[in-house]
Amino acid sequence: MEFKPKKTILLSVYIIVGLWIAYAFFRTDKTDEVVFSMGGGTKEIRFVKSLIEEFEARNPAIKVKLNVLPAPTDQQHHYYLTTLGAKTREIDVMRIDTIWIAEFASAGWLASLEGCINPEDRASFIPVTEKTDVFRGHLYAIPWYAGIGLLYYRKDLLEKYNLDTPHTWNDLVKACLKISSPEHVYGYLWQGKQYEGLVCNFVEFIGSNNGGIIDDTGRIIVNSAQNKIALDFMHDMIWKYRISPQNTQSELMEESSRHLFQQGKGLFLRNWTYVWELCQEDPLMKGKVGVSLLPKFSDGSPASVYGGWHLAINVHSKKKKQAWKLIEFLTSHEAQKELAMNLSWLPSRTALYDDAELLHKLPFLPVAKTSLENIQIRPNLPYYQWVSDVLQKHINRVLSNQTGSQEALQTIQTKLEGIKNEFAKD
Ligand code: GLC
Repeated sequence: MEFKPKKTILLSVYIIVGLWIAYAFFRTDKTDEVVFSMGGGTKEIRFVKSLIEEFEARNPAIKVKLNVLPAPTDQQHHYYLTTLGAKTREIDVMRIDTIWIAEFASAGWLASLEGCINPEDRASFIPVTEKTDVFRGHLYAIPWYAGIGLLYYRKDLLEKYNLDTPHTWNDLVKACLKISSPEHVYGYLWQGKQYEGLVCNFVEFIGSNNGGIIDDTGRIIVNSAQNKIALDFMHDMIWKYRISPQNTQSELMEESSRHLFQQGKGLFLRNWTYVWELCQEDPLMKGKVGVSLLPKFSDGSPASVYGGWHLAINVHSKKKKQAWKLIEFLTSHEAQKELAMNLSWLPSRTALYDDAELLHKLPFLPVAKTSLENIQIRPNLPYYQWVSDVLQKHINRVLSNQTGSQEALQTIQTKLEGIKNEFAKD
């Protein structure tokens, strides 16, 4: 037989290429990369990374790339406006704030999730999320964890002065006036800077005096006597009673107020549930901190705002199946329990509120369960960001003594009515 080197080489090349294609197609370690975008604190990111490793170990065909964003919600919102607005394919799964769902869904940026989840599983999440995750009848997000505003207090100091946990705002002022000076601590730390956190605090203050922003029929009800009392109180805590620092209106956000509290510089703090675990592992705070519902005005009832973070899929993702697998894992009973045990994130699955281990670890769980039944939600609207911008700006102007409360509420009322009419035309 005649040896033809050219032919042999060509044949070998065909065989190698063929084998390589077959290998690439059938290999069992074939991986798909899913990009998961989320913001958060250092400890949160570290723990989520460990959960992702667990997910990858169980799903060797999927690799998750974590795209870490800054912690403040407003900064994350800007990021998504530019990336999702440009129809990016670089993000598959996103952790999104409850207040963006209607906006992102109406912009057509989120994949509908109905087909992914079965009705029984869907019903196992806390009921409030049926209001926040559904837009025009479609499900666009799955609650990863819930958030409620709580009152953290220095148990040791209240005991030393023989005082009970405050039930009314008046009780809180009295305790601050009695304890702050001798103990050299600020009385009440809360979030007053011009950003989304201020809106959360405002909703809680007015909610605890039977006030509100928009009623169930969609009417704007912000310019009310109840809201004026609550807004005056927010102002007076800084300038009249002087129980909150003067930079509340210029600097205090979740993290800056938490730092002051954890450094032992505050008697009371309003914050989300993640603060609990951070206080437990801090030698300066361990054993000294108690947690309860936020106080109320004498004729009102305690009000907490819903502040959950939910998981959604980018409508332009090319890996929707894998993306859903990741969401399924991260929102599972098991993963949520881990998150609650390690980060004191409030679970979004109802059954976990009766889990004995969690009840032991998170003393606020029963209170959270009750307050979630009657939780205040920020207006669930595609144009919520416009509403929030108006609220942030004009409430903050009152706190920084640039406007009176009556004038601010009147301005907010007029502007929100204008925004509502503008969007009603669409
Ligand atoms: C928390 C809440 C979120 C809220 C934000 C305001 O992250 O979970 O819902 O918008 O605080 O700062």
